[in-house]
Amino acid sequence: MSDLVIDVRGLGKRFGSRVVVDGLDLTVRRGEICGFLGANGSGKTTTIRMLCGLLRADQGSGTCLGRDVIRDSGLIRRDVGYMTQKFSFYEDLTVFENLDFVARIYEMPNRIKAVDAMLERIGLRDRRDQLAGELSGGWKQRLALAACVLHTPKLLLLDEPTAGVDVKARREFWDLIHDMAVDGLTVLVSTHYMDEAERCSRIVYLAQGRIVVQGTSDEVVDASGLVTFEATGGDPDRAARRLRQMAGVEAAAVFGHALHIAGTDRSALQAAIIQIADPELVWLEVRPRLEDAIIHMLAVAELAAAP
Ligand SMILES: Nc1ncnc2c1ncn2[C@@H]1O[C@H](COP(=O)(O)OP(=O)(O)OP(=O)(O)O)[C@@H](O)[C@H]1O
Ligand SMILES: [Mg+2]
Repeated sequence: MSDLVIDVRGLGKRFGSRVVVDGLDLTVRRGEICGFLGANGSGKTTTIRMLCGLLRADQGSGTCLGRDVIRDSGLIRRDVGYMTQKFSFYEDLTVFENLDFVARIYEMPNRIKAVDAMLERIGLRDRRDQLAGELSGGWKQRLALAACVLHTPKLLLLDEPTAGVDVKARREFWDLIHDMAVDGLTVLVSTHYMDEAERCSRIVYLAQGRIVVQGTSDEVVDASGLVTFEATGGDPDRAARRLRQMAGVEAAAVFGHALHIAGTDRSALQAAIIQIADPELVWLEVRPRLEDAIIHMLAVAELAAAP
């Protein structure tokens, strides 16, 4: 098997007359944590389902784990762990019983030992005999992760695994994912959270079923060509309102006490800063945020696609 765990070209899917995934070329290397980003309805879940053979592509070809995505979907599924967007388990079974059930499905040898080792690994040992339905959101999500890595898959497909989970649980979940990647697991993970995107080794951003931009977080920021200035002091909300109206200011957003403005034309931004002439605002050029870069590139892509 080559170094590419996912290697597909021209992947396409339509539902009725609607094209949902449109000629997608995607490669993911072994051990990579690839972040799959895009607005609601951009085709992330559909792509993930085609990759693991749950949905048949209308177009395209390629391999997942060295096997043909169209012909060998059954074989691919065996080596993939898929955490669905609305993950589920048996609420009236305990944590242990849920995992034991999964282990039986995969006909794992030394089931009890494997389940207990997984509970230890994922920090669920103290909750072994608790009913799954009684777990908090963060622990439920850990149980779902445990259930999809129990059969030691080579590829993890995680579809918005941390939606609605608190910040500490999200941090711990991502620590676990990175820990598993060290052991050679490859991960494709969809998310709407930019802090999570920044923890991926690479980001792929989808819009209307097409890849708009991909690369490391730094590469995406650099490729956007965006320039950002930050101001502190004064009244950032009032300044933001004025700045949004000015030429060359693509975005003006307030983060706490700081005001960020972004655009691709540095001198236009500087002119806008001079024009609002607020002596209380202290300006500094800062590195654009990933979020700014993606919003910018999306706007450019939408303009290009407009009739
Ligand atoms: N089985 C289906 N039949 C018809 N339309 C579908 C089906 N599955 C998905 N779609 C449509 O395809 C589009 C892409 O859906 P998909 O679930 O792949 O998006 P997504 O990027 O995962 O979105 P989200 O961030 O909301 O999860 C949506 O407009 C959705 O309504
Ligand atoms: Mg989805």
